[in-house]
Amino acid sequence: MTKSSPRPRRSTLAVPGSSLKMIDKARALKSDALFLDLEDACAPAAKPAGRENIVKSLNEGGFGDRVRTVRINDWTTEWTYRDVVDVVGGAGANLDCLMLPKTQDAAQVQALDLLVTQIEKAEGLEVGRIGFEIQIENAKGLLALDAIAGASPRVETLIFGPADFMASIQMKSLVVGEQPPGYDVGDAYHHILMSILMAARAHDLQAVDGPYLAIKDLDGFKRVAGRAAALGFDGKWALHPTQIDDLNEIFSPRQNDFDHAENILDAYAWCTSETGGARGAAMLGDEMIDEASRKMALVISAKGRAAGM
Ligand code: GLV
Ligand code: MG
Repeated sequence: MTKSSPRPRRSTLAVPGSSLKMIDKARALKSDALFLDLEDACAPAAKPAGRENIVKSLNEGGFGDRVRTVRINDWTTEWTYRDVVDVVGGAGANLDCLMLPKTQDAAQVQALDLLVTQIEKAEGLEVGRIGFEIQIENAKGLLALDAIAGASPRVETLIFGPADFMASIQMKSLVVGEQPPGYDVGDAYHHILMSILMAARAHDLQAVDGPYLAIKDLDGFKRVAGRAAALGFDGKWALHPTQIDDLNEIFSPRQNDFDHAENILDAYAWCTSETGGARGAAMLGDEMIDEASRKMALVISAKGRAAGM
């Protein structure tokens, strides 16, 4: 998959690698992407069985055209290399991406690239096909965003991990995704989200917002997801199946915006072909359309088409 036509990731379902039952259930759910988790949703004693479950499930298939990702453990643990060797070695042909949590610098991404490349060669897999999803979850990762985003051609997405991030910077909140109580002058996440978005766009990557833990609070979930979508993020995680449909809707353009974007593109194409490219602006009703409006329309149109509109 090329960067110019990225796989849609409006909704990414989190699935514990330790539960074959939940992995099985995920096959029938309509998320654009899913990740089978060997990290925080998989207790230390459950990691070996989690690796086996994941390899078995990926090889059995049944995930349709969803992006199939496995979240490995971060490089500061003793589990990372074994996660990669077992999962890529055992199911590399049926895996789209590895997710690297708590990424701190470019060297961690490059180390993962070297290891995956060796396994691909040893197993006769296509070298470079498996992509990376990079979680930004601490101050070091945020400060190294540009280098991390450019560290490997395998990097496809940058993901905000609010729970670990809040813990790492000692933000005073226990409700993940919501504002810290007492901070009443704006959005405490704005700088982090914008920094991730800027690095993603500068490197032609997708930007994905992480989890909202109060899974029964669908209104709160939709509010927070809507903010990320409004900023320009490509999608968000679902921790529960009830969150998937809302994400697919929130991160798709509204039908009238999609139709409007298509009309802008048609009007601009018509005008430039009629004038042999001599005119740089066209009218659509009362609206003047120029090259910049064409680019804005292209964004909405591409997102809509990726969403099947
Ligand atoms: C996700 O991994 C998070 O820490 O929010
Ligand atoms: Mg985390």
